[in-house]
Amino acid sequence: MRSYYFDDPSSNVSVEQLNAIKIHYYPMPMDDYTNKLASICQERGYKNRDEVKLNNDTPGLDDKLKIFFEEHLHDDEEIRFILDGSGFFDVRDTQDKWIRIRVERGDLIIVPALMYHRFTLTETRAVHAMRLFTDAPKWVPINR
Ligand SMILES: [Fe+2]
Repeated sequence: MRSYYFDDPSSNVSVEQLNAIKIHYYPMPMDDYTNKLASICQERGYKNRDEVKLNNDTPGLDDKLKIFFEEHLHDDEEIRFILDGSGFFDVRDTQDKWIRIRVERGDLIIVPALMYHRFTLTETRAVHAMRLFTDAPKWVPINR
C-alpha cells in the first residue's frame, strides 16, 4: 500500500494520516491470513463476504470501471481485501483533496461510511478482491 496526494504523485500520505480520516489499513499475511481476518471480522462485526475479479476477460470491464470511478459514497463502510492484482482507491481528505491509495495483494483497506471515493485499476488491469460486509452483500453507490 502506498498513498499520496493525487495531484502530486511524489508526495506521501502516511498510514497515520489515513487513520486520522478514519481509513483503516491492515497488512495481511498471505501465507495464512485466516486468523487475522477472523479477528478483524469479529472485532468490526463483518458477517458476510464475497469475492470479485476484474480483468480484461470481464465482460463490459470498461463500463464497470466507468461506474467505479464516479465519485460516490455509501452509508456503510467499504472493506476490500486484495487477494491478487492491484488497484487505486481515491478518497477525499477533510480539505476535499484527493488522496490516491494504491492497494495490492495483501492489503486490506476500510473506507469509512459517508466518505467520497472512487476506484480504478492500475496499468495491469487485474484485481481479485474479497469484499466484506456487516450485513448482506450490497453495493449501493450514492454519486456526488
Ligand atoms: Fe464504493
